[in-house]
Amino acid sequence: MDQALVAREAGADIIVAEGTEAGGHGGARATLPLVPAVADAVAPIPVVAAGGIADGRGLAASLMLGAHGVLMGTRFYASAEALGHERVKERIIAAKGGETMQTRVFDIVRGYAWPEVYPGRALRNRFLERWNGRESELTAALDSEHSAYQRAAKEGDFDTAVVWAGEAVDLIKRIDSAGTLVARICEEAEGILRAGARLVR
Ligand SMILES: Cc1cc2nc3c(=O)[nH]c(=O)nc-3n(C[C@H](O)[C@H](O)[C@H](O)COP(=O)(O)O)c2cc1C
Repeated sequence: MDQALVAREAGADIIVAEGTEAGGHGGARATLPLVPAVADAVAPIPVVAAGGIADGRGLAASLMLGAHGVLMGTRFYASAEALGHERVKERIIAAKGGETMQTRVFDIVRGYAWPEVYPGRALRNRFLERWNGRESELTAALDSEHSAYQRAAKEGDFDTAVVWAGEAVDLIKRIDSAGTLVARICEEAEGILRAGARLVR
């Protein structure tokens, strides 16, 4: 919330309210209560909801929460056009939301200086299971671990290399083209919004 106000004061044209469900780096707040709170706090600046949104239901819900639109990361990472490794896309399709977690171990081993308050949500893999909770030991072992990690990433070994992905992996069943996704998500959201209107008289 504080950061949304800082963005407003800085003159942002659009503010993304990203919940902790998101793939990649983020904070601790959940999308559902964060989006309407940010929308209220920064109105009339348009707010874009992010984190855990991967289909028309998420888009429709976000609009109802006061967002002007949505930003999806994980869903489009598993699209035909995304530049990620094919094995990454396959892992996203196979994964369950409960197999993701926020972690710093991949930043440490890659030498990325993300602030500690913004861990990144990734799929659990062997590397993460091995080092989770042992971040200082990993830092101490960087000489050997960094080069082993780089090798694994180059070889497409995702038991070691990171797959950034959010809790919405549950909703991702296949790789589609980005255009197909946008059309399907919008159509689905439109249908839901029309059906929702029938709930009230
Ligand atoms: C593979 C991947 C890489 C990302 N890289 C960045 C990044 O470099 N900077 C950033 O601000 N957000 C990054 N994000 C977060 C997205 O911009 C977006 O906010 C997030 O994916 C939304 O949540 P979702 O994954 O549940 O759709 C990344 C997300 C993914 C999945």
